Amino acid sequence: MQTTLEIDIRKTENSRIGQVDFDNLPFGRIFSDHMLISDYGNESWKNPHIMPYQDLHLSPANSAIHYGQSIFEGMKAFKSADGRVLLFRPYENFQRFNRSAERMCMPQVSEELFIEGLRTLINLDRDWVPPQEGEALYVRPFMFAMDDYIGIKPSDTYKFMIFTCPVGAYYADPVRVKIETHFTRAVKGGVGFAKAAGNYAASLYPSKMAREQGFHQLIWTDGQEHKFVEESGTMNVIFVINGALRTAPTSETILKGVTRDSVLTIARDWGMEVNESPLEVAELVESLRAGKVSEAFGAGTAATVAPISAIGHEDEVFDLGYSKESALSTKLMTELEAIKRGQIEDRFGWNMVI
Ligand code: COI
Repeated sequence: MQTTLEIDIRKTENSRIGQVDFDNLPFGRIFSDHMLISDYGNESWKNPHIMPYQDLHLSPANSAIHYGQSIFEGMKAFKSADGRVLLFRPYENFQRFNRSAERMCMPQVSEELFIEGLRTLINLDRDWVPPQEGEALYVRPFMFAMDDYIGIKPSDTYKFMIFTCPVGAYYADPVRVKIETHFTRAVKGGVGFAKAAGNYAASLYPSKMAREQGFHQLIWTDGQEHKFVEESGTMNVIFVINGALRTAPTSETILKGVTRDSVLTIARDWGMEVNESPLEVAELVESLRAGKVSEAFGAGTAATVAPISAIGHEDEVFDLGYSKESALSTKLMTELEAIKRGQIEDRFGWNMVI
């Protein structure tokens, strides 16, 4: 992309990279040296700049804090063996970001600001991209309202920002999930398809209840009848039923996951049957009882491909007998990771070289 965008860069004089143990990275707690900021006001984005990562100063009346105009994205960058930095499918995240913005009555971000912002920031902090297997540079673009105003209306001012963090695994072990049939994540006409901050806040209490019952996460069901499987807490959810992949189609209540799409694309490319159609909880439970579900896994940027070891529904718990060596999820994950790390041909054109 030809760009005329000028990003002012102020580099840190005190890099923190020497303090990081890249062999033991937690998820989401270590932040790279720089961050990008652009401010919106008078109906345009201005002054894109990069500065040392630091705290923000906000008015106590900041309307994002009170009324929740706040959206984000997540993607990952990898280091290939020959030292290239590869960012996975950023255009998908760009498009989803603007869909989220539209729904939350926030301004659109130009492709130039989003993509060139990513490219410039990641390039500047390219030494923070861990080369180790199982690790990546997690990239977090986000936007939030900046008006200091008490009252309900769309803000007139916003900040668009990007920071990055080197990360290890989000889930260290296979997850136990519970099919949620009381609480609701999303309803038709709501904001379930958007990466709106409040969606995650609303999931915390039901997730806490599930944890008290011995589960790590939930499988959400539709908000009207709790009859159809939707997605899991931090990821889309895919089942292997009778040897075919089965997942709910994305919709206004289900996030259009980039990892979900990548996994399904690879499986189709391998000639596997992939069935994206509404999945009734009753059908899933019947299939679990009949031993037809050989595997289940989550798909998300943070979680990547996260195997599910057990599924709870009402008083029953179905143990899936997960075995890493033989699992299809391992095969899919291995292929996906190899593409992301430039170890095999990028046959779908997914990587952006930084
Ligand atoms: C992601 O997968 O990137 C997310 O945004 C989920 C979040 C829980 C880290």
